[in-house]
Amino acid sequence: HRHLLGIEPLSKEDITQILDTAKIFKGICKGTNKKFPALKGKLILNLFMENSTRTRSSFEIAEKRLGADTLNFSASASSLSKGESFYDTIKTLESMEPHIVVIRHSSPGSSKFLANNLNASVVNAGDGAHEHPTQALLDAYTIREALGTLEGLNIVIAGDIKHSRVVRSNIWLLKKMGNNVTLSGPPTLIPPGIEKLGVNVEYNFDNAIKDADVVMMLRIQRERMVESFFPSLQEFNMLYGLTKKRMENLKNGAIVMHPGPINRGVEINSEVADSKRSVILEQVSNGIYVRMAVLFLLAGGRINEISN
Ligand code: CP
Repeated sequence: HRHLLGIEPLSKEDITQILDTAKIFKGICKGTNKKFPALKGKLILNLFMENSTRTRSSFEIAEKRLGADTLNFSASASSLSKGESFYDTIKTLESMEPHIVVIRHSSPGSSKFLANNLNASVVNAGDGAHEHPTQALLDAYTIREALGTLEGLNIVIAGDIKHSRVVRSNIWLLKKMGNNVTLSGPPTLIPPGIEKLGVNVEYNFDNAIKDADVVMMLRIQRERMVESFFPSLQEFNMLYGLTKKRMENLKNGAIVMHPGPINRGVEINSEVADSKRSVILEQVSNGIYVRMAVLFLLAGGRINEISN
């Protein structure tokens, strides 16, 4: 593949190759900060048109670990604020000859637009409510590491499904790998017809999580809501929040995930986010190795070339 625009076009083998490559990088780099020259001489442009903490930092760390030169572009500090168009902005940056462009943007399809118009490999770091492929890959890595498998699991994804790019990428990935995926949340935040993607919908959150191996909570994205929020945040927590009481009813060994940033006391309570079942910070840390793997493979690297 020349680009990573989403999980939808990837095969099961592509996904496994990325996860296996990330595992090798983690085995060598965790705690050692070891660097590899695989991307030496390559220029990577991090084009963040929407805010980010985890994705932006871990891409930059991954790029540095692979020896690349990096340029971090922030929309608010650019000539976009003087009215320059997105097209003219990307053509201007293209003339600086980046090899890989990592883009986050609020519009679905923005990474595809870039791939169609730029002479560079493009990595989608989140495009509106469409896809966030590296998030789904790091989630998959974390599940496989914690539970020892990535197939045949009961996985519940809950909360604001409607505005989430993370859920779309996760549905594609988890279904391709052969898992049972159940979505839960208020009907106002679950798009009609989503069952067509091969998932179950269970509006009663307590029923949904009864047999779960993984419960992945999603952030209520109030910044994307034009309508007023229903129900109130307190009612949401009562009906759909992962509270301590609900956590106590989970199966032995079940894990709790959240892509972050979390709304404590809304979709997840502090006693859960900070509990032993929570792998939220492992997800962040695994993001570095998964992004190293994605960049390495896009640049034509092969697993047997990575040496300790
Ligand atoms: N999970 C995630 O994409 O977080 P950021 O928005 O902080 O990058």
